[in-house]
Amino acid sequence: MRKVLAINYSQTGQLSRILQSISHPISQSEQIEFEVIHVEPAIPFPFPWPFLQFFRIFPETVVMQPIDLKPIKTQHEQYDLIILSYQVWFLSPSLPIASFLQSQQATSLFADTPVVTVIGCRGMWLMAQEKVKAQLQQLQAKLLDNVVLSDDCGAFFSFLATPMWMLTGNKKPLRWVPAAGVAEQDIIESKRFGIAIKERLEKDKTPIEQSMLRGLSAVTINEKLIASEKMANHSFSIWSKILRKIGPQQSTRRALGLIVYVTFLLILILTVVPISALIKKLISPFTKNKIVEQKKYYAEPSGE
Ligand SMILES: Cc1cc2nc3c(=O)[nH]c(=O)nc-3n(C[C@H](O)[C@H](O)[C@H](O)COP(=O)(O)O)c2cc1C
Repeated sequence: MRKVLAINYSQTGQLSRILQSISHPISQSEQIEFEVIHVEPAIPFPFPWPFLQFFRIFPETVVMQPIDLKPIKTQHEQYDLIILSYQVWFLSPSLPIASFLQSQQATSLFADTPVVTVIGCRGMWLMAQEKVKAQLQQLQAKLLDNVVLSDDCGAFFSFLATPMWMLTGNKKPLRWVPAAGVAEQDIIESKRFGIAIKERLEKDKTPIEQSMLRGLSAVTINEKLIASEKMANHSFSIWSKILRKIGPQQSTRRALGLIVYVTFLLILILTVVPISALIKKLISPFTKNKIVEQKKYYAEPSGE
């Protein structure tokens, strides 16, 4: 019997549904024992998020400062494959998943184990995946594939639609803003990844050492966002240091610092993101080769 473990955390249930669609074919196999564990913070994060609470966790999320998790039991100590599904919070893996990756339990589960990462997010995931890659390398895990499902409303509208969903709990609180979230059709079609994984596990009993999802459009790289993600990530690390120095997570000082920061962030989104996208377009004839290389790098290991 092959053993597959899926690790999941989801606030709205969106990522759970993505994982469910991908893992359904695997769970139906008579040759595979499939198990899912749900990571749960000891103190749950609220949903919808109160405005300030949403930003209060920003500095700790960026530095991946572990939080306490409820104890989790797995049936086995080692698996043939781990599917790690996570959502992006502030260009980083969400705090529950980042905390699990730093736990003692992860050290033994991930060692020498093939991993497929599954991301469900607004659309800015490149830097988060870099952080997860580093963490997996530290755990001596083998990242073989990455699947990404992004919000359907496009990069521009998602800057508004997704935060509004997080803050109101409503996917479409305004008529003129398209609905937030990953398209239902994309979720349904993601079962192709599960089929490919199941076939590889059933056909070949040797350990998985290569990508199983090449040619299946597991990821799409939005080249316009590469520079913005890098810049935003740099600014996030600086602000995260400043805000942690200003005061502890729930303090009034942190709240005041956050108000300044959120204003800065809004200006950043309204200026740097479109300006850098425009500059990229203007200089694209000269940077073509570099962009091709960057896209190839971020699309690995599954490819576009
Ligand atoms: C605090 C917070 C920060 C987020 N930051 C990002 C981000 O930087 N990039 C991104 O693509 N999505 C971001 N999102 C959206 C999530 O990745 C995800 O799409 C959404 O939370 C739904 O996931 P769920 O399955 O947990 O409900 C953020 C969400 C939250 C709650």
